[in-house]
Amino acid sequence: EWTMQKFLDEAIAQIRHTVGEKGQVLAAVSGGVDSTVAAKLMKEAIGSRFWAVLVNNGVMRLNECEQVQKDLSEALGINLTVVDASQQFLDGLKGIEDPEKKRKFIGGKFIDIFEEEAIKIEKAAASDPTKAGKIEFFMQGTLYPDVIESLSFKGPSATIKTHHNVGGLPARMANGQGLKLIEPLRSLYKDEVRALGRALGIPEELVMRHPFPGPGIAVRILGEVTPEKVEIARQADHIFISEIRKAGIYDRISQAYAAVDPSRAVGVMGDKRVYGYIVVLRAVTTTDFMTAEAYNFPWEFLQRVMNRIVNEVHGVCRVVYDITSKPPGTIELE
Ligand code: XMP
Repeated sequence: EWTMQKFLDEAIAQIRHTVGEKGQVLAAVSGGVDSTVAAKLMKEAIGSRFWAVLVNNGVMRLNECEQVQKDLSEALGINLTVVDASQQFLDGLKGIEDPEKKRKFIGGKFIDIFEEEAIKIEKAAASDPTKAGKIEFFMQGTLYPDVIESLSFKGPSATIKTHHNVGGLPARMANGQGLKLIEPLRSLYKDEVRALGRALGIPEELVMRHPFPGPGIAVRILGEVTPEKVEIARQADHIFISEIRKAGIYDRISQAYAAVDPSRAVGVMGDKRVYGYIVVLRAVTTTDFMTAEAYNFPWEFLQRVMNRIVNEVHGVCRVVYDITSKPPGTIELE
């Protein structure tokens, strides 16, 4: 009979067997469910011979980098290095309007930064007398549906958007640097990953986190990404998600966020005419993320969020709720 505890014991034994007594493992983490569960599993199996790297790409959510650092490093004891490359990303995003170009830039830059860090970590790992082993492995939090998707890749429909995430990047790492791939979650579905996370003692709030795209809020700002718009998206998103949590409906929604439409609209605030950005709220329910429906919020809820955003977020004078289903809309705006 298959149980999560058995799976966990076997997964740990398997990792130890693969990695050996001295082997060391590198991974990119995001704070998302998959990479967090995979990282905790590696930590349980091989302790600090597992090295996790979080790259701050400048388009993470409000206080997210600090929060992930607390969760993974302090609470879960994972050996984590945080690289703050936010300025490099924001500089490079200047002037890019096309969604695919944004994705390509962020994905490419991510690999460059990650590789630079990997070299530093390899040196540290090799010179640490308590470890004195080489980094030979690269860990990815690939799930079963990702495996299936890549096997059944049939052409253009699968490339509607270039998906970049920490699980998708390291073909080059794995080949280029001769690192062998470890994918401890590759036989699991999402709900099983969550169950495994609970078995590993990961807090419920982390286990139930909504997915967040690799290119972050860059794909939630239509057109050019600027520090000002990033700040607006962050503040608005924080208000929206806090209200969702307060209403006790976070777990009923599959994914929710606030985006910025940089076309501007006229409004009045106090007795002054203002000209501000439009914030787009999106919240969907879905089982497989291939199709989705907009979440049916109570009207009062949406009014409360609207009021808070126009009053608290400087530079915004309109709030709209996106009710488009997928298809034809995608979950992200870009
Ligand atoms: P769409 O917008 O295609 O999104 O309906 C489906 C799911 O995929 C996520 N998504 C991404 N995840 N890198 C990621 O890691 C990406 O480039 C990316 N684009 C979309 C999206 O958040 C949703 O969960």
